[in-house]
Amino acid sequence: MKIPYLLLLCLYPFFIEAQETAPQEMKGRVHLNLNEGWRFYKYPDTMKPDSLLYDVRPEVAEKVDGKAADARPTEGIKVEEKQGVLKSWILPSGNKFISDKKRPYRRPTGDPGADFPFVQADFDDNNWETVNLPHDWAIKGPFYKGWDVPIGGGMGRLPIQGVAWYRKKLDIPVSDAGRSIFLEIEGAMSYAMVWLNGKLVGGWPYGYASWQLDLTPYIIPDKENQLAIRLDNPPSSSRWYPGAGLYRDVWLIKTAPIHIGQWGTQLETRTLSKAEAEIHLVIQIDNDGDADKEVKVITDCYLLDEQGQRQARPAASFSAMNAHIEAKKSTKIHGKTLIKQPKLWGPLPEQCPNRYVALTSVYTNGKLVDRYETRFGIRSLVFHPDSGLLVNGQRTFMKGVNQHHDLGALGAAFNRRAAERQLEILRDMGCNAIRMAHNPPAPELLELTDSMGFLVVNEIFDNWNLKKTPLDFHLIFPDWHEQDIRAFIRRDRNHPSVILWSYGNEVGEQYTDTAGASLAARLQEIVKAEDRTRPSTVSMNYAKPPMPLPAVVDVISLNYQGEGIRNGPAYSGLQGITTPPLFPAFRKQFPNKMILSSENAAAVSSRGEYFLPVYPGNSAPVKEGQGGDSLRQQVSAYELYSVPFGSGPDKVFVTMDAHPYVAGSFVWSGWDYLGEPTPYYLSRSSYFGLIDLAGFKKDRYYLYQSQWRPDLPMAHILPHWTWPERVGQTVPVHVFTSGDEAELFLNGKSLGRKKKEKGMYRLRWDEVIYTPGELRVVAYKEGKLWAADIIRTAGKAKRLVVSADKSELKADGKDLVFVTVNIVDENNQMVPRSDCLLEFSIEGPAEIVGTDNGDAASLISFASHKRPAFNGRCLAIVRAKRLQKGDIKIKVQGEGVEGSVAVLHCKP
Ligand code: GAL
Repeated sequence: MKIPYLLLLCLYPFFIEAQETAPQEMKGRVHLNLNEGWRFYKYPDTMKPDSLLYDVRPEVAEKVDGKAADARPTEGIKVEEKQGVLKSWILPSGNKFISDKKRPYRRPTGDPGADFPFVQADFDDNNWETVNLPHDWAIKGPFYKGWDVPIGGGMGRLPIQGVAWYRKKLDIPVSDAGRSIFLEIEGAMSYAMVWLNGKLVGGWPYGYASWQLDLTPYIIPDKENQLAIRLDNPPSSSRWYPGAGLYRDVWLIKTAPIHIGQWGTQLETRTLSKAEAEIHLVIQIDNDGDADKEVKVITDCYLLDEQGQRQARPAASFSAMNAHIEAKKSTKIHGKTLIKQPKLWGPLPEQCPNRYVALTSVYTNGKLVDRYETRFGIRSLVFHPDSGLLVNGQRTFMKGVNQHHDLGALGAAFNRRAAERQLEILRDMGCNAIRMAHNPPAPELLELTDSMGFLVVNEIFDNWNLKKTPLDFHLIFPDWHEQDIRAFIRRDRNHPSVILWSYGNEVGEQYTDTAGASLAARLQEIVKAEDRTRPSTVSMNYAKPPMPLPAVVDVISLNYQGEGIRNGPAYSGLQGITTPPLFPAFRKQFPNKMILSSENAAAVSSRGEYFLPVYPGNSAPVKEGQGGDSLRQQVSAYELYSVPFGSGPDKVFVTMDAHPYVAGSFVWSGWDYLGEPTPYYLSRSSYFGLIDLAGFKKDRYYLYQSQWRPDLPMAHILPHWTWPERVGQTVPVHVFTSGDEAELFLNGKSLGRKKKEKGMYRLRWDEVIYTPGELRVVAYKEGKLWAADIIRTAGKAKRLVVSADKSELKADGKDLVFVTVNIVDENNQMVPRSDCLLEFSIEGPAEIVGTDNGDAASLISFASHKRPAFNGRCLAIVRAKRLQKGDIKIKVQGEGVEGSVAVLHCKP
């Protein structure tokens, strides 16, 4: 048996965040955060923007909103215009990521846009909006309502489209003369073009990429330098909400002319045993200066504690590396070391996510010229066709979810605490793996997955040359795929949490036989050239075992095909791709490849909505009267319904259990996200999540918890028990439990004890006659008492109960607290269908940045401080102001109920 991969050590660049006041005389590297104090202008929809186009775009003729997600992608329409567009000036920005040394793009002569007012230093931008980054210009809305709108439900109904400018003055002291100065943008949505002091520097079109521009030739020291960034976000360019703006961190990096290159370190663990790990290090040193230089490079490795602080003494050191670096050239230097008794990185809860940091110092003539910190983890990975994934020799089933990039009411603007909260809630469910669907995440998210011990499938593209929506990435794929892939891997290759690269999701090239397969092979070659330590994959919802595409990939990643697409009694006869359950056929064809269920379920539901009748089987496509209510745009949370190509969660569990060689199961989706509100495209956000957009758990969450945390004693009853209109009529009761048996009691009277048979993942009492009162379940495991749950009929809404996810906030202008409001009756029983209108207000050094209630159909702006509860709950997100300490009071008033206050503290 061939064991495909034995892996490896990882490491990623880590820097000290300096404020703009950092002492400029500091030698070596300065990493200056540029998030504060930008001027922002967005052309109104009614105005034709400037003509500084990256490229012309095809007319959008087709209506795309609401197309089945698994519809066959089609031929893209390309419009090429050599004259009058700026593409030729932007393409050279990616030159470092093109391998063919003969093919770098040459910058044409001329200075496009130089005379445009917005790029001039003396342009008066005082009446532009002042914003801090990360900034998503679209998230505050308003939402577009109705069918005939510029941005429909598919992209989240928010005004992402159009051209906007960001301007900022950079104070560059005289001491910066002679230094190399770079602008680093972690994500700009999209088609970014950057001017400094009136000169076009470059840009990057793909909105999810992180990239750097060399500002050095354009900088004027001892002067305020004018930075101007133009973004141009197309409509019809995505199948989900892309966000809009400078939505991740932006940095100014200053170095000596001799310095470590962008993402210039790479580590590999070549051999690993209990006694030692042999670590190879490659460092790229750039010499931007005019003279050749001799360098000496020293790297020490330290173990990090849980807080990310390094231990006092190094765990190992690389021998000093010496090199001669020619002027205006880059050189790679290599070294190796042994770390004794290495502490391994592994996913929680079975293992521990231990991390190290490598501290690299570069000297010329005995003087320190650069310092670079790189965090890393040591682990071995085996991708085994029978045993699945082995992490450090331990079999680890990937209990995974797919996650899109938005953070609900905060939009695409990245926030570390919001992302951490998403991961915490997923971790409590038993999730240990995330697939980054379908684009590179914010770099900080990978710091979180590293430190919190999640496994990551890191994915870059949703399409190649063929298009899913008229103006999606296919327009730039031919020019940019190589640069995007190489930049993506260089940025992320050292994260121990990243275990697998995915360079495509359900691409149209699945349908184009050998042509598609040879493109896949070319992309895979690029991936492997950048990182030979991890395998790579493409997620396939159409390609079948005998087709050429699956033969190319290292790992077989199947979307929906494992369970079968439009397969099963309730699904037969539906239009679209149909596929029988295909795990066995893929296994037969590829006995040496590991198989992964990279997307499954696509089940849909709205938290707290329960519609009768309840489908008697374990999975059915949602439709009117079968889980769906198109008038209210809600889907039943009995958790049996899916999109036509998907499967209810129970059906997925049946298939996964029947095919134990499948290495992992990635649910579509972990959290609800903005856009793609299948099946109701008048809504704003998805119904797929196990957790709603506000972060409240749906019932499905507990079904997964019951399977993924078998040792956690838990039982969960659904639906709620407040049905005044159904006294004397049937209300089915379902129970999710990690036990194997349970007894249900209504007002103390047993409704019978039921046992899970093979293939059963829930216990059902479908014939319960509703009487108000108390419903109690007692669960057993192997005959012993295991867990219990009680729900009671609620009375009239009486008061609000406000709770916060923490009591102290860091006054850093970024930290968030998530405040939940529950509406309860006089006995403190949650009122399950309450839609009480709430109003939030705040006193003290913090602000309310958004509210939500998880209702996918709500088109109330996230910025509003007034919002009805949805099925008894509502959320406010509060952010601390920078450098202001003191108490904050968050008050919530509700119509016809007693209000409440939460008191928190902001500390410096
Ligand atoms: C898949 C697709 C996902 C999402 C999901 C649910 O086909 O890969 O991006 O669209 O369906 O609709």
